[in-house]
Amino acid sequence: MEAKNVGLRNVTVADTKISNIDGENGKLIYRGYDIMDLVKNSTFEETSYLLLHNDLPSKKELEEFHKMLVNARDIPAPMIKNMENFRKDAHPMDLLQAFIAELGGYYVEHGTQKEVSYEMSINLIAKMPTMIACWDRVRREEEVVAPDPTLSHCANFLYMMSGKKPDPETEKILDTCLILHADHSFNASTFAAREVASTRAHMYSAISAAVGALSGQLHGGANYEVMKMLLDIGSIDKVEAWVKEKLANKDRVMGMGHAVYKTYDPRATILKELSEKLAAKTGDPWFAITQKVEEVTIDEMKRLKGMDIYPNVDLYSASLYYMLKIPMDLNTPIFAISRVSGWASHVIEEAFAEAAPKPALYRPNADYVGKYCGPEGCAYKPIEIREDE
Ligand SMILES: CC(C)(COP(=O)(O)OP(=O)(O)OC[C@H]1O[C@@H](n2cnc3c(N)ncnc32)[C@H](O)[C@@H]1OP(=O)(O)O)[C@@H](O)C(=O)NCCC(=O)NCCS
Repeated sequence: MEAKNVGLRNVTVADTKISNIDGENGKLIYRGYDIMDLVKNSTFEETSYLLLHNDLPSKKELEEFHKMLVNARDIPAPMIKNMENFRKDAHPMDLLQAFIAELGGYYVEHGTQKEVSYEMSINLIAKMPTMIACWDRVRREEEVVAPDPTLSHCANFLYMMSGKKPDPETEKILDTCLILHADHSFNASTFAAREVASTRAHMYSAISAAVGALSGQLHGGANYEVMKMLLDIGSIDKVEAWVKEKLANKDRVMGMGHAVYKTYDPRATILKELSEKLAAKTGDPWFAITQKVEEVTIDEMKRLKGMDIYPNVDLYSASLYYMLKIPMDLNTPIFAISRVSGWASHVIEEAFAEAAPKPALYRPNADYVGKYCGPEGCAYKPIEIREDE
């Protein structure tokens, strides 16, 4: 039997023009542009256009794209009614996944299959923030806030959650976070989206599958776990003992380590700077505690396993969102409202690639290892003569 490639590590399954990770040098490229450059000069809306359309938009194209997003921000009124029927402690990722799948039941898109996919992408990018902001208000038993067409994508999301227009600094911080999370090559949720798209299922099905994959704590759910960890630690003097105990018990320190980066995740570099700046302004202790977690984990992993480990995107985003007063369980949904631009671009690439090698239905193999009586040859036993194990 051949050795298995557990977790599909180092298996190349497709060609992509959307993004590339240079794990050795800590670089992330969207459609040829370094994210460091995009963070300095672009916006989330423009970056979404870039991911979907293969190049940066002209001024007119960006204005039209912005208009399309603004016009698609509303969600169907019955969806808000449905939210009222949810348990108020339901996880926002569960709700998001369910309502994305539900979109297919509300809208009829027109045009070629490719045009329909673009229209669905606009609907998702525009409506997912509305879903999350509305849910956050419904669960707090507050009136939902209608979208404000004069605001940017990011500012409108913050406004719909809080009912107040954000100051430019807050808007810029969150917009930067959205740019940084927008795509990341063939990560677990993107692969889930592409795998569903490979069956020719539509965009909403593929994206709801991706949201399910992102919710797991080894993937997007890690940013929530990081904030839980920081609150559990509580103060900087407790970090060392906390991390040492965790690692001695063979547990994982969330926000550390990455399947591809063998050096500092470039997104963590930027998020760390933002978190440090914000903490200096607010006086919050969370940046300093996070930095200490990073230092102790690096030292301990070296000592215990001789292994180099670095922060990933989730380590510093957790404290940043907390300092922006965003409820902790919205950390992963915010990841999703950004990553949807990447997911949608991958679904379109998967379904409509024009150049060879054209994607095919994903269908890996597995080794069948029989349990009771060898791989085959079990004789069917009537239920009356079966015994409890
Ligand atoms: C992301 C992650 C799954 C990538 O891991 P990977 O490179 O595929 O490596 P593995 O999961 O196979 O782990 C390799 C070894 O490193 C250890 N390791 C990796 N990340 C670790 C972490 N954050 N804390 C403690 N140990 C860790 C594993 O325990 C394992 O040790 P072992 O070989 O003795 O069993 C892993 O680093 C992790 O679980 N991180 C925490 C969750 C997280 O932050 N996820 C967000 C990712 S963006």
